[in-house]
Amino acid sequence: MAQQDNTPDWKIDFPYSTVETLQVSRRQFAKFLCLVSGGLMAGSGLVAIKSSFFPERKVEGEHFVCNTAALPVGGTRSFTLPGSTVPYILIHLENDEWRAYEQKCTHLSCAVFYKPGTGRIECPCHNGWFDALTGEVVQGPPPRPLPALNVIVKGDAVYVTGQQPA
Ligand code: FES
Repeated sequence: MAQQDNTPDWKIDFPYSTVETLQVSRRQFAKFLCLVSGGLMAGSGLVAIKSSFFPERKVEGEHFVCNTAALPVGGTRSFTLPGSTVPYILIHLENDEWRAYEQKCTHLSCAVFYKPGTGRIECPCHNGWFDALTGEVVQGPPPRPLPALNVIVKGDAVYVTGQQPA
């Protein structure tokens, strides 16, 4: 007479132990690596193509941002230009000068913020810092200065224009 076996049917159909199911074969791991590498390569290629074939449009003309009274010394105002989604920041520095920069860090595009009283612009993502007077990098990983706009104060109105090449 055959011995009664208490093994459930599913275990007979799927005869693998838990340890075996958790193991990743070399082939599976290689597939995963290829997939991730391919995805990264495709993403980098798209970014390279976009920046090569669709460069950022130059800022044309003069654009009103705000009235001088709306921005006290040490104050900032975020703005975009018509027809563009690029974020900018207008800064009324403590020495009464005005500056406007792209509000995207040149490292990995985090938003940057002016730290009143320090003369510096901070990128909180990786502790990057820029000089608020020049836009130059003073600390951290950003590879380039912040792109700037010219600021023109006419009477009580503040305008920006595209930066002229030096
Ligand atoms: S994104 Fe600004 S320092 Fe990294």
